[in-house]
Amino acid sequence: MPHPSLMAQFISFVKRKTSQKYRFNQQYTAGKWDGLSDIRELARYSVIAGVTKHFFSSARILDLGCGEGVLLQKFAPTDYAAYLGVDFSEVAIQNAQTLKSEKASFVVGNLDSLQVNGTYDVIIYNESLYYVRNPKDAVQALFKNLAPGGIFIISMVDKHGKERESVWTELNGILEMIEKIKVSNAAGDSWTVQVYKKPR
Ligand SMILES: C[S@@+](CC[C@H](N)C(=O)[O-])C[C@H]1O[C@@H](n2cnc3c(N)ncnc32)[C@H](O)[C@@H]1O
Repeated sequence: MPHPSLMAQFISFVKRKTSQKYRFNQQYTAGKWDGLSDIRELARYSVIAGVTKHFFSSARILDLGCGEGVLLQKFAPTDYAAYLGVDFSEVAIQNAQTLKSEKASFVVGNLDSLQVNGTYDVIIYNESLYYVRNPKDAVQALFKNLAPGGIFIISMVDKHGKERESVWTELNGILEMIEKIKVSNAAGDSWTVQVYKKPR
């Protein structure tokens, strides 16, 4: 029988190696997410950038699960007043640092237990909300960070052509939908992008 402290160390080692964060770090290191910059993914980024610009001439943007900052590259620096990208992958955030500027920064943070300072006009979950343990609680916790008149933009890929019904239903229960936009590519991938405001 191994010593209890050795056992605890082993369990913690296994937990780390099988964690979602560990897997994302491995995948970013291996370049598995390089395809996000591909033209096949462009539609949803364009919609998110377009919706942001539709509502705000110079938005304060919070990009949650920002990865390597592909979305930031779809904006001209004049499109935003401030941009903060958050992701739990240290590898992704390290790679994103090449994009940082006076107005744009990237920090490591876990969306399951995020404490954010500041006020934002646009809070974005671009293909990240379905990884979060409790999407409804995570979104509600950010209500205090949304500026008056601010919006949430949430993009989720339609898996096997099907929308992620349960997450959308939860969001529709706590937020007021402004618009729902569907995009697809020639390969048959499709995404649903929904724009919300806080309920009055
Ligand atoms: C499919 S990628 C999308 C990346 C980026 N939003 C984009 O579309 O270019 C999902 C991202 O969510 C991040 N992520 C997943 N779960 C997370 C969590 N609990 N906290 C922070 N980031 C998370 C991953 O590290 C990854 O960068």
